[in-house]
Amino acid sequence: MSTVRFLTGITTSGTPHLGNYVGSIRPSVRASLTVGVESYYFLADYHALIKIDDPARIQRSTLEIAASWLAAGLDPERVVFYRQSDVPEIPELTWLLTCVTGKGVLNRAHAYKAAVDKNNAANQDPDADVTAGLFMYPVLMGADILMFNAHKVPVGRDQIQHIEMARDMANSFNHRYGEHFVPPQAVVEESVATLPGLDGRKMSKSYDNTIPLFAPREQLKKLIAGIVTDSRMPGQPKEPEGSALFQIYQAFATEAETSDLRKSFADGIAWGDAKQLLFERIDREIAPMREAYIDLINHPAKIETILLAGAAKARQRATPFMAELRHAVGLRKLVSQAPASVGKANKAAQPAFKQYRESDGQFRFKLVDAHGKVLLQSLGFAAPKDAGQAIALLQREGITALSGLVSQLEPLAVETATIAAALEQMAVAS
Ligand code: TRP
Repeated sequence: MSTVRFLTGITTSGTPHLGNYVGSIRPSVRASLTVGVESYYFLADYHALIKIDDPARIQRSTLEIAASWLAAGLDPERVVFYRQSDVPEIPELTWLLTCVTGKGVLNRAHAYKAAVDKNNAANQDPDADVTAGLFMYPVLMGADILMFNAHKVPVGRDQIQHIEMARDMANSFNHRYGEHFVPPQAVVEESVATLPGLDGRKMSKSYDNTIPLFAPREQLKKLIAGIVTDSRMPGQPKEPEGSALFQIYQAFATEAETSDLRKSFADGIAWGDAKQLLFERIDREIAPMREAYIDLINHPAKIETILLAGAAKARQRATPFMAELRHAVGLRKLVSQAPASVGKANKAAQPAFKQYRESDGQFRFKLVDAHGKVLLQSLGFAAPKDAGQAIALLQREGITALSGLVSQLEPLAVETATIAAALEQMAVAS
């Protein structure tokens, strides 16, 4: 069965807070349990270097973030969980992508543009204090994603532009060197709340309004007591709308619990009592993980072993793929055959249908391009004849047959235009 690959990275530049947990850790751990999904989660420590030049902080943050994900239930056996800097193919791919990325495209990246705008407003040189690392950030991120040909990339809204750039990089590379990359798609979870922080603005390191995910119980209680409220007295009805306290509660509570709190608000619950409820509700979810977290933090060697095993898994894919990409661009041993040595190459350079039977006894087919990359993958058919009919239809009618066949196919991993081109190429050659 061909699976959908999800991939996401977490920059190792801080201590995880409740906002990271609700917005990223918790939904990702849940998603990783879905059948038919292959998940890649990694610690983006090369990205952290762009923001942070304190080595101890990078190391500490890597430890804390890894421990948080594991404590929150990420199963390193089920997912590929690794540290970016343990996969040297990623910076290598970054260079190949750098060479197919327009400088003008990077000029328009939000983070870089914001830095330039700020300098301009201050009458400074536009690039004052801007490192080439910040400028190249989207290319490194593109390499993270394309290295594993991820289909879906769960990210916050602010990252959508980066995923679009990664798509562009995939397309420009494919255009020059053949179909190697799957253009990825951003997945923005609308249902996942952005959590307000202590001051009511979005919980974020940059606002200094966060509640650390694994703060000790007493500190958690103290921080929650500091969440902004209005000045309504006990007995006066309170507004759930716009209340940071209410929104945070909602992110942890069941629907029934949330509507109970809504009622208590209407009944004039004292803010102090509401804060106590919130503290208890959060602590109920976090306390068991906190224990696991403390244990992990105290045994960094355990985490190190898990990350190295994850990197080995990641490299099972990255190393051969990088070899393929090096060959594709012409970084080749001088004795290796130029694939343009006609005759054999001409014949090989054709897309083809492949029919086969799997261990489940079902018959399947796939369409592969000249490099063996899968363009279409069928679901299982009971009889080989049915697979054959679907193939015949595609051969006869080309891409127009596709819409009638969707229920018999795995979700498309490549653009329909790519499939159409392959079908046409086969029709011409036959
Ligand atoms: N830039 C992302 C962030 O700050 C982190 C990241 C790095 C990432 N590489 C990635 C996210 C690849 C998704 C895919 O949130």
